[in-house]
Amino acid sequence: MIKVLVTGAAGQVGQDLLDVLAGRIPPGGDPTFQPDGSAISPDDFSVMGLTHHDLDVTDVVAVHRTVGMVRPDIIVHLAAYTAVDKAESDAATCFAVNEVGTGNLSDAAFEFGARLIAVSTDYVYDGRKGATYVESDATNPSGVYGRSKLAGELRCRPQDTIVRTSWVMGLRGRNVLHVIADRVARNEPVRFVTDQVGTPTFAADLARALASFARRPLGGIWHVANRGTTSWFTVAETAAREFGAPAGFVRPIVTDELSPAPAATRPPRSDLSTQKWESAGFEPMPEWTAGLSRFAAARN
Ligand SMILES: NC(=O)c1ccc[n+]([C@@H]2O[C@H](COP(=O)([O-])OP(=O)(O)OC[C@H]3O[C@@H](n4cnc5c(N)ncnc54)[C@H](OP(=O)(O)O)[C@@H]3O)[C@@H](O)[C@H]2O)c1
Repeated sequence: MIKVLVTGAAGQVGQDLLDVLAGRIPPGGDPTFQPDGSAISPDDFSVMGLTHHDLDVTDVVAVHRTVGMVRPDIIVHLAAYTAVDKAESDAATCFAVNEVGTGNLSDAAFEFGARLIAVSTDYVYDGRKGATYVESDATNPSGVYGRSKLAGELRCRPQDTIVRTSWVMGLRGRNVLHVIADRVARNEPVRFVTDQVGTPTFAADLARALASFARRPLGGIWHVANRGTTSWFTVAETAAREFGAPAGFVRPIVTDELSPAPAATRPPRSDLSTQKWESAGFEPMPEWTAGLSRFAAARN
C-alpha cells in the first residue's frame, strides 16, 4: 500500500484525487480511463488529505512536523493561491503560498524520504510562442500568479515531479462551467473571448493522471491536460449547448472588450503538448469535449 499525503485536499483537484486514490470514480470521471493500464482498488493507497485548515503550507514548522509524523511515500501538493487577478495586488501572499509553500513541501519530502508531485500551470509561459508548448520551452510568466508558480517549481528538486496543467474544471470546484450553467438556467446570455486559446482539463481526468505518477517514480516536468486546443469562446459555446442553451447564447468577443479589464494578463495561447506523457507509455488523455460531456451529464 502506497501512503499518500495530499495538500489542498478541499480544492477542485484535491476532492477528485481523494476519490481516485480510494478507488472511486469522481463525479464526471471516466471509469475506462486508466492511463497506467490498471484500475485502482481501495487498498492500493492509504491517503491523508489535508485542507488549508489542517495544514497551512506557508508554515515551515507545521509542514515538517506533519510530514515527519505521517511519513508518506508520496506527497501530492495541490495547495495553491489560485486567484489569478487578486494576485496582482496581493503578490506577497501569492508568493508565500506558491513559492515558499512549495519549497517547504519539497524540503520536507527530501528530509523524510517522500517523493513530491507538485502541480503547476500553463501560466508559466507567456503564450506568445504561436504553437503548442512542450516541457522544454522557455518560461516567461506575464503575471504574479504565473511568476509565483514558476518560483515554486524552481524550489523543487530534480527528483520531484512537476505537473503543469491548464484551465482546470472540477464538478465540485469554483469554475466557469458552473457560471455558464447558472446563466443558462436564468436565460442570461454570456460573452466569452475568442483570443485566449489553451487546453481545458477536467479535474477528474487530471486526478487519475496524478495517481499514475504516484505509481511510477518519474521526476522532472510533465504536461498533463485534456486533448484538444480551443478558445474560451468555444468552451463556453459547447458547455452552453450541453446545458441546454439555444444557439447564439454565447457571444464571441476579444480580450480588449472585457470591461472592467481583468487585473492579470493571460497568455494568448498556452495549449500544452502531452507527447512526453504518451511517450512514457501512459494512455492519451481524454479529449476535452468528452470531459465536458461527462461534466454536464453529472451536473444536469
Ligand atoms: N484552477 C486552474 O485553472 C488551474 C490551472 C492550472 C494549474 N492549476 C494548479 O492546480 C492545482 C490545484 O488547483 P485547484 O484548481 O484544485 O485549486 P483550488 O480549487 O483553488 O484549490 C486550492 C486549495 O489550496 C488551498 N490553499 C490555499 N492557500 C493555502 C495554504 N496557505 N495552505 C494550505 N492550503 C492552501 C485552498 O484552500 P482555501 O480555499 O481554504 O484557501 C484550496 O482548497 C494548483 O497547484 C493550481 O495552481 C490550477
